[in-house]
Amino acid sequence: YPSNPQMGDGSILERTNCRAKGGAAGFKVAILGAAGGIGQPLAMLMKMNPLVSVLHLYDVVNAPGVTADISHMDTGAVVRGFLGQSELDGALTGMDLVIIPAGIPRKPGMTRDDLFKINAGIVRTLCEGIAKCCPNAIVNLISNPVNSTVPIAAEVFKKAGTYDPKKLLGVTSLDVVRANTFVAEVLGLDPREVEVPVVGGHAGVTILPLLSQVKPPCSFTHEETEYLTKRIQDGGTEVVEAKKGAGSATLSMAYAAVKFADVCLKGLRGDAGVVACAFVASQVTELPFFASKVRLGRTGAEEVYQLGPLNEYERIGLEKAKKELAESIQKGISFIRN
Ligand code: NAD
Ligand code: LMR
Repeated sequence: YPSNPQMGDGSILERTNCRAKGGAAGFKVAILGAAGGIGQPLAMLMKMNPLVSVLHLYDVVNAPGVTADISHMDTGAVVRGFLGQSELDGALTGMDLVIIPAGIPRKPGMTRDDLFKINAGIVRTLCEGIAKCCPNAIVNLISNPVNSTVPIAAEVFKKAGTYDPKKLLGVTSLDVVRANTFVAEVLGLDPREVEVPVVGGHAGVTILPLLSQVKPPCSFTHEETEYLTKRIQDGGTEVVEAKKGAGSATLSMAYAAVKFADVCLKGLRGDAGVVACAFVASQVTELPFFASKVRLGRTGAEEVYQLGPLNEYERIGLEKAKKELAESIQKGISFIRN
């Protein structure tokens, strides 16, 4: 037996390949940045997802190790590893969904925008690969700053002539997961019963929880509103500071990413009424991208919902969010156009 049978050694994999090709119903998913802090638990959780038949794990380091490890899990998905730029095409070819957590994370004192210099180039290269090898795949973009990396991806796809706005989704599900948790804490409820829409973007004041639209219906004092809004907006920083230089949220992010990937796959499968918040091309405001609730279907984000009625506190928050978002979006667009 080859020492790493999942790394494309060929012969003994014939039966496995049969299973991956036809037998098992399910989707083909690639994770780019699969050996990282988010990538590893995300890969593990996707291997446990019954909707996944093939899982490609790509990274510039340690992809073989993570692949060997995860491939021993006795779940349905066939796992294959891909290491380095020369194997990117193989990782992407035939994929239905590509999840991107590649790139550097924050350290205390940094903003997400401080990651732009390095992560913008990483996202550009990976999206060029997607445009070439799986232009019809749904893309879940996690790499920060999401408010700029999504516009970068859109510009790369436009340049390649493959852009479909429905298929490019910036992942903001961690904001929703945090909002559900913190709101449940204040209300004394089980977080699984709470639904908080979070709109805008994914950085500081651009993260706008709509506490007036929480389900089940409830009300908050002004102090509770201020506390919750700030805690949700600063959730990422809370983790960065607690980790003291060892990175940002990875485990809760992997959980949130899998929740979001799962709704994307259910949409692809044709399930009805699949709705989640995401940062997408949008006409909900005057900005070209905005996070709001979207309905996921066979072709991606098939419907982008309006924000619904906002209270005065949220209307002020929306203006602040749009101001910062406009700059971050423009920065992403200019990175590719200029
Ligand atoms: P990490 O450093 O632990 O892992 C990143 C991985 O990306 C590493 O394994 C690295 O080798 C890989 N990588 C680097 N360049 C690459 C390339 N060109 N191609 C493929 N892989 C490459 O970081 P992490 O904690 O996993 O965070 C990853 C990113 O996710 C960061 O930008 C972080 O800010 C972001 N993030 C986003 C959210 C969100 O809500 N959207 C939440 C948490 C973290
Ligand atoms: C988060 O919200 O946890 C991520 O965007 C990572 C970060 O830098 O805060």
